[in-house]
Amino acid sequence: MTVESAPDSVRPASLAEPTIPGTEWWRTAVIYQIYPRSFADSNGDGVGDLEGIMRRLPALAELGIDAIWLSPFVRSPQKDAGYDVSDYCDVDPIFGTLSDFDELLAEAHALRLRVIVDIVPNHTSDQHRWFQEALAAPEGSVERDRYIFRDGKGKNGNTPPNNWESVFGGGMWNRVTRPDGTPGQWYLHIFDASQPDLNWENRWVRDQFEAILRFWLDRGVDGFRVDVAHGMIKEAGLPDYTPPVETGSMGGTTAIADPAALDPAALDRAALAPDSALPKLEPKPIPSPPYWGQPAVHEIWREWHRVLEQYPGDRVLCAEAWVDPLSKMALWVRPDEMSQAFNFDYMFTEWNALEQRAVIDRSIDAFSAVGAPSTWVLSNHDVVRHASRLALTAESPQGAGIGPSSPGQPDPVLGLRRARAASSVMLALPGSSYLYQGEELGLPEVIDLPDAARQDPTWFRTRGEKYGRDGCRVPIPWESDAPAYGFNDTGASWLPQPDEWATLARDAQVGVPGSTLELYRSALALRREFALASGMVEWLDGYGPHVLALRNGVVTVIANLGPIAVELPVGGDIILTSEKITGGALPSETTVWIRTDS
Ligand code: GLC
Repeated sequence: MTVESAPDSVRPASLAEPTIPGTEWWRTAVIYQIYPRSFADSNGDGVGDLEGIMRRLPALAELGIDAIWLSPFVRSPQKDAGYDVSDYCDVDPIFGTLSDFDELLAEAHALRLRVIVDIVPNHTSDQHRWFQEALAAPEGSVERDRYIFRDGKGKNGNTPPNNWESVFGGGMWNRVTRPDGTPGQWYLHIFDASQPDLNWENRWVRDQFEAILRFWLDRGVDGFRVDVAHGMIKEAGLPDYTPPVETGSMGGTTAIADPAALDPAALDRAALAPDSALPKLEPKPIPSPPYWGQPAVHEIWREWHRVLEQYPGDRVLCAEAWVDPLSKMALWVRPDEMSQAFNFDYMFTEWNALEQRAVIDRSIDAFSAVGAPSTWVLSNHDVVRHASRLALTAESPQGAGIGPSSPGQPDPVLGLRRARAASSVMLALPGSSYLYQGEELGLPEVIDLPDAARQDPTWFRTRGEKYGRDGCRVPIPWESDAPAYGFNDTGASWLPQPDEWATLARDAQVGVPGSTLELYRSALALRREFALASGMVEWLDGYGPHVLALRNGVVTVIANLGPIAVELPVGGDIILTSEKITGGALPSETTVWIRTDS
């Protein structure tokens, strides 16, 4: 295969060169999430693959990102799109081979892009050898102790060991059948029944994962995104638990899950107060369920940290952990634990200036208290894309998705406008930002997927009550006039692409002033030029309650989240606008960057 790579003269000697502590690359990086099934498909079978990714790497280098994070591409029966792993150390044939991976890694490094891989330690697939061995072994055996098997309650053990409910719907326990055909023990699965939870109290399990980390580090990966990092340790005794409110499908216990968690009196006071007196609103945390965020999990991160430390360069550990509040989340990124954690509090903060300002302050305070950078993220493969989410008029719990019959359908024009304004704020903030493939094209959620096409286990386990996450996972458009919009050359696509996507294809946006792609490209270039990622936020008051105004170095960022235009300050050069600006006014739902030099 041919890929245009950087000439030897501009190749870094090694991306693994060490940097001074406190200046590691990941502190300021823009990390682009690739969802391999839906990025680019080289063999035309309708599912993306590693070779497809490799062919498209130059486009990512041109965008100006620093690193890619690959969602799982290892062996898996694909019951949960690869988050059900049956072999952690081999590539699934639908995505290619290990040597394809090595080639992809080398090409990415040649283009100065770091590569982060997803690791799924909370659970395996039920097809994993370890689970098959556990099923074949007697109750109480060492093989069974790798997972969480328990006797049932009640007469004949017919009742599950506790009342926990799976994130994907239904119960969290499945009963196995003994070789003689009689019902046996139950095993725990936080997610689908095909994803049994591992027992992280077991040293053997920990040792296996240390070897898995080394397998990928030895190949040269720059770090790991750690799936469900908050679920790996369960409270001793596995006590019953009744959630106080609907918490969304990933167990988020954030303000979005419980809007009432924001103190209304504080909101009222804040609305009347001068800008400078705004309170830092902390959502009241909801007590953690006994399977999320247990303190013993920190021992695991310390062990993993020590493994990564033995490798040259700066390798990153990023936690997918739905933990509230941010001050508790920050404990995960103390200097001897993980490097950074997704800021889901930011992702789910409502699109209003008061709450946006509060969450930005809260994030910077919480993470800097432990010496870690804040991260920022607006979209990923588990949530409604922000070009739709920001215009929803009804709540959609995280992971539940939206479909044709969901209340509060988003206005697509308003959604895109808000998304562009929001991304333009996010990319000006200090710290590390995560982008999800397709957001740079302004892709909306695909709401009207045919029911027969849906594949998310959430859709099946809730019998269609929750649409699930397929709408943000549709293969992305590269070329407006090609089959499957250039996703491949056969037109096959594992989820159908909407007819309206021709105008959103990358080739329809490249070089087009004002396109979403060019907006992202400019923002990333300016972010680098003015070192915004290592800067500081200084709030500017006096713009009114619907405006976010901040200075980061020589760049002033003003975002008008309100319904009417506001006056722009006089002086300075406008270097970025999320919408066209005429005269001295900043239109509604628009962000501008102004270079001020003073
Ligand atoms: C994480 C992944 C999600 C997956 C779940 C179970 O939350 O992001 O896609 O379904 O873990 O592995």
